[in-house]
Amino acid sequence: MAEERRYGAIITAVASYLPDKVMANHDLERIVDTSDSWIRERTGITERRILEGRPTSYMAAEVARRLLARRRLDPAELDLIIVATISPDMFFPATACLVQDQIGARGAWGFDLSAACSGFVFALATGAQFIESGTHRRVMVIGADKMSSITDMQDRSTCVLFGDGAGGVLLERSEEPGLGMIDFEMHVDGAGCEHLHMKGGGSLFPASHETVDQRLHYIRQEGRTVFKFAVVKMAEVSLSLVARNGLKVEDLDLFVPHQANLRIIEATADRMGLPREKVMVNIDRYANTTGGTIPIALSEACELGRLKKGDLLLMTAVGGGMTWGSALFRWAI
Ligand code: UT7
Repeated sequence: MAEERRYGAIITAVASYLPDKVMANHDLERIVDTSDSWIRERTGITERRILEGRPTSYMAAEVARRLLARRRLDPAELDLIIVATISPDMFFPATACLVQDQIGARGAWGFDLSAACSGFVFALATGAQFIESGTHRRVMVIGADKMSSITDMQDRSTCVLFGDGAGGVLLERSEEPGLGMIDFEMHVDGAGCEHLHMKGGGSLFPASHETVDQRLHYIRQEGRTVFKFAVVKMAEVSLSLVARNGLKVEDLDLFVPHQANLRIIEATADRMGLPREKVMVNIDRYANTTGGTIPIALSEACELGRLKKGDLLLMTAVGGGMTWGSALFRWAI
């Protein structure tokens, strides 16, 4: 793979945006039949953020502005904006177009990428191709979801799991060998659609009084099936990617997994033989923000000084589709 690349695709800035409003487990106790202790023991979540009165593009545009500020770039210097989301402002135009307009990125094109919780790693692998080929210089990859807009607050098995938030990275070219995206491995299995989906509002079940009455415009999932699938596939794809690049798990400096459930994260790390201190976890404060989890966790890892130039970083996710994948980076900043 490396031989065909012209340039390395390096991450030169990381940023996140989290809404101010906090919804704690105790707040949910007043809405559904649940308890703070059940949520903490089964998921590791203590609280999540909720975005009120604004759409997903608002969070994505905030991330974009922060990324530009971090690199002191003019918005006109951006070439491409990719937004990974399953809660776009509307079916079309794409959220990426709305972000492009909000930040004034006059020279950029863009599109949304739909891969549920794997959206950010899919988008990262996609964005890196444009840098490595030499056709683009600056690609913004953002994961953003307002999960509260598609969460059924009458369904205790899902409403405790999700939160709102966004994060992103700026990808740029590097001629320094060995830095940036090393490799990625992505998978889908559409046969898993029944396990995790939101069926209402598309061409299969266009919005109608009936689809609203049947609560089809919300996420539905078979929790236990998704749980087992997530642990097996996140470990499998991570180990495969590490091995096929001639590396060992011990070589990894930081593992940033999708934050869906603390038990999934810990079981995955154990299966991989990865010590807990190399695993980034912040699900306790933000819950599952779908496209947002990995860049939000990565942003926090950078703020905590957990990455330095030359470190080996692995990002892995599993989500509706089913989708799953891993991206391996040599940290460049
Ligand atoms: O990002 C990808 C998307 N999603 C995921 O990765 C989620 C994967 N799945 C999970 O994280 C877990 O399966 C859940 C957190 C959703 C559920 O945990 P679990 O340990 O698999 O519980 P369960 O579904 O087997 O339910 C155990 C019990 C049930 O009661 P009974 O049948 O034993 O009486 C549920 O009705 O817990 C009950 N329950 C709750 N109780 C209190 C389910 N949700 C709740 C709740 N509060 N919020």
